[in-house]
Amino acid sequence: MTDTPVVVGLAGSLSSESRSTALVTRVLRELEAFGVTSEFINLADLPADALLARSRDAALNRALQTTTSARVLVVGTPIYRASYTGQLKAFFDLLPRDALANTAVGLIATGAGRDHRLAVDHALRPLVASLAGLSASRAIYASDAELDANPQDVQQQVTALARELLGLIRAD
Ligand SMILES: Cc1cc2nc3c(=O)[nH]c(=O)nc-3n(C[C@H](O)[C@H](O)[C@H](O)COP(=O)(O)O)c2cc1C
Repeated sequence: MTDTPVVVGLAGSLSSESRSTALVTRVLRELEAFGVTSEFINLADLPADALLARSRDAALNRALQTTTSARVLVVGTPIYRASYTGQLKAFFDLLPRDALANTAVGLIATGAGRDHRLAVDHALRPLVASLAGLSASRAIYASDAELDANPQDVQQQVTALARELLGLIRAD
């Protein structure tokens, strides 16, 4: 963990061996290769009661603060019921208004198939915009079959998103 990470990865999967989380990590690694500091937040590690605002938790408060202060956020989620996970929504609901102003956000989703790929544009982009964040034009969507059969295609998406985010960091 670094004191002031430029990039924060935020994983919204409930799975311990998560495909979407692995993609978040891969984007972070590509950015780190250019000297960008990063921190990683796995929502599955945070207490569910606190995520539902039924209790307070220091780790959750730190995660919210880290997310709010990130220059770049890389958000990954599996598609659940045609959208992002409830866990990711619960976390975003706890962020203050305009929490992502001045934050560029890279979007990543994985799904069982391609039917719900537009959730990136129809669900994730509005979610980010509701907090005044700016989504990168590139995003990653990969189906489970593509991840298994076409790793090169997925890698191209990873590199394209990392390059766009790097350009936004360097433009500051
Ligand atoms: C509760 C649940 C709901 C799901 N709903 C969808 C869905 O609506 N559309 C879809 O394409 N995949 C759906 N999936 C499949 C996952 O999105 C897919 O396997 C994904 O790659 C898992 O990502 P993860 O390994 O990061 O958790 C669902 C999976 C679960 C567990």
